Amino acid sequence: MNPTSAEFFERARKVIPGGVNSPVRAFNSVGGTPVYMTRGHGTRIFSTDGREYIDFCASWGPLILGHARPEVIEAISAAAAEGTTFGTNTPREVEFAELLHRLVPSLEMVRLVNSGTEAVMTAIRLARGFTRRRKIIKFEGCYHGHADYLLVSAGSGLLTGGITTSAGVSQTVAEEVFVVPYNNLGAVKEVVRRHNKDLAAIIIEPVAGNMGLVQPQPGFLQGLQKVARNNGILLILDEVITGFRLGPTTYSMMEKLQPDLTCLGKIIGGGMPIGGLGGRAEIMNHLAPMGAVYQAGTLSGNPVAVAAGLATIKLLEKENPYPGLARLGKKLSDGLNAMAKKRTLALHCPHLGGIFTPFFCSGPVHDLTTAKTANTKAFAAFFHGMLQRGFYLPPAQFEVGFISAAHTENDIDRFLAAADETLASESAKGNL
Ligand SMILES: Cc1ncc(COP(=O)(O)O)c(C=O)c1O
Repeated sequence: MNPTSAEFFERARKVIPGGVNSPVRAFNSVGGTPVYMTRGHGTRIFSTDGREYIDFCASWGPLILGHARPEVIEAISAAAAEGTTFGTNTPREVEFAELLHRLVPSLEMVRLVNSGTEAVMTAIRLARGFTRRRKIIKFEGCYHGHADYLLVSAGSGLLTGGITTSAGVSQTVAEEVFVVPYNNLGAVKEVVRRHNKDLAAIIIEPVAGNMGLVQPQPGFLQGLQKVARNNGILLILDEVITGFRLGPTTYSMMEKLQPDLTCLGKIIGGGMPIGGLGGRAEIMNHLAPMGAVYQAGTLSGNPVAVAAGLATIKLLEKENPYPGLARLGKKLSDGLNAMAKKRTLALHCPHLGGIFTPFFCSGPVHDLTTAKTANTKAFAAFFHGMLQRGFYLPPAQFEVGFISAAHTENDIDRFLAAADETLASESAKGNL
């Protein structure tokens, strides 16, 4: 018998802080013991306890083609067999940058790094170096990784800079960050009116995925772009989730936006660690060794990660799974919304393509304040009901679920049948 998840978690807590290498994996917001996975194939993941789950977390986004897609695994194995890292330039990274540039023309130049956090951290430094200004605007509920500048939330007043959300982040750093409500262009304009000469960048997830799924209202991103441009502020779009998620390009290309810089991660690494930032050559050329903004990485542009990314993006371009993802996303969200209506539950599930969030609240969610009206206890009950029935969702209310190209109509039918049972039994217990 394999050790159980509970046994692994107990051992882990002695040698890994909180037993996890990334906090949300601890199940703190849903309770219970995290499940230890040992294997994945297509849409299925298998735990050390001998259970099988249909996965809607997809490693938090990278696995748009599902687990262990053979072409991607072959590319990884072949690259690894040739040597896992050289610390030199490699032909593959040139091919990859050219591919990204072709599919996302606003990426005139790209620099590869090792994670989304690193991409965003570098983009912020680059924006400050390029504009020779210090301050940035970010949005409540958006997550951009764990660099100091981004671990800041709204302070008591919009116009005085933010407060740190993590011990160890200097208040001086937080004071250089203004945090405004998502979808509130008026608040952005007010900060810009007072601080325009000090503002280096506005950074945003063009579709927010870290307070649950929250979409930009019509004209909001275009408005931001205009305010940024008119004031010499760089617009940084964090497309770590949305890049290659909704089409074989970025969300901004699909929406005809013109960001100055774009951050990528997740899908572009095909399940291997990667991040990337790119944009106008005039700005990118401020990075070392061309310019004075320093950035470097022992494993940046790692040949194995790049091989996985190349294989993934080429498959996405060739197979165009996006209409299918949107169809399944609609089916899942329509199905849950119909159940909510039938049972008069405070639940609604928006989707965009294959991204979705079952929000346990009744109103539409358009910013962090409305997201926070969700009943997180009800979500936890739903999460565990689904887990018991063999469905793995992201273990927190304010996250997004992902449908992958490996999911079928049948997977969604099964998800909906399990959701119907879960909603019935959890409402009967008074948990919803
Ligand atoms: C929008 C966004 N930006 C940045 C990051 C950070 O990426 P990473 O976890 O690869 O550092 C994330 C991670 O979830 C993200 O969702």
